[in-house]
Amino acid sequence: MIVGSHLIVRIMTPDAVAQIKASYAGVAALPRRLASRFYEELFTAAPALRAIFPGDLTSLQGHFEAAVALVIRNLDEVQALRESLRELGAQHVHWGARPEDYVAAREALIAAVRALSAAWSDTLEQHWRMAITSIIVPMLEGAAVDTAVWAERLSARLPEIE
Ligand code: HEM
Repeated sequence: MIVGSHLIVRIMTPDAVAQIKASYAGVAALPRRLASRFYEELFTAAPALRAIFPGDLTSLQGHFEAAVALVIRNLDEVQALRESLRELGAQHVHWGARPEDYVAAREALIAAVRALSAAWSDTLEQHWRMAITSIIVPMLEGAAVDTAVWAERLSARLPEIE
């Protein structure tokens, strides 16, 4: 798992990081515009997910946008955010996020950015896919650790077998 995130960091060249930052600046100028488009895309692609989110998405949109902004700002050293992203991923287990939902979320975010962008290219799309993958990999690692901790706790409660 550790190898996975290192790999992403290595593949994202400084040029790719710069392109993502410029692209993000273009779509995130207005508050909540990207986030609301993201949730729209997500619920269109995966309507069943709507039920696990709160009815009013306003504050969640703000949180989501802040999290994405933080990662994009630190994209050159995403390792620094790894622990926080792992914690966020562990919380997500309790909200009902499954690994495959992250792929749906990644594609929804790409679709949202694309829809709001003045210019788009296959290369930019690949860079975005890479950047979002560098967010979701540590989140999934955190989810896996959370599950392992549960297993550990449960096994610690088993009676000793001679
Ligand atoms: C790119 C990946 C994702 C990021 C960056 C992200 C970010 C966040 C953030 C920052 C919060 C707010 C946390 C808080 O209030 O403390 C949140 C909440 C939540 N997220 Fe995500 N998320 C992602 C993917 C997903 C996925 C794949 C699902 C499941 C379909 C999901 C479902 C939820 C739910 C249900 C909540 C809580 C809503 C509530 O307050 O009840 N998220 N997410």
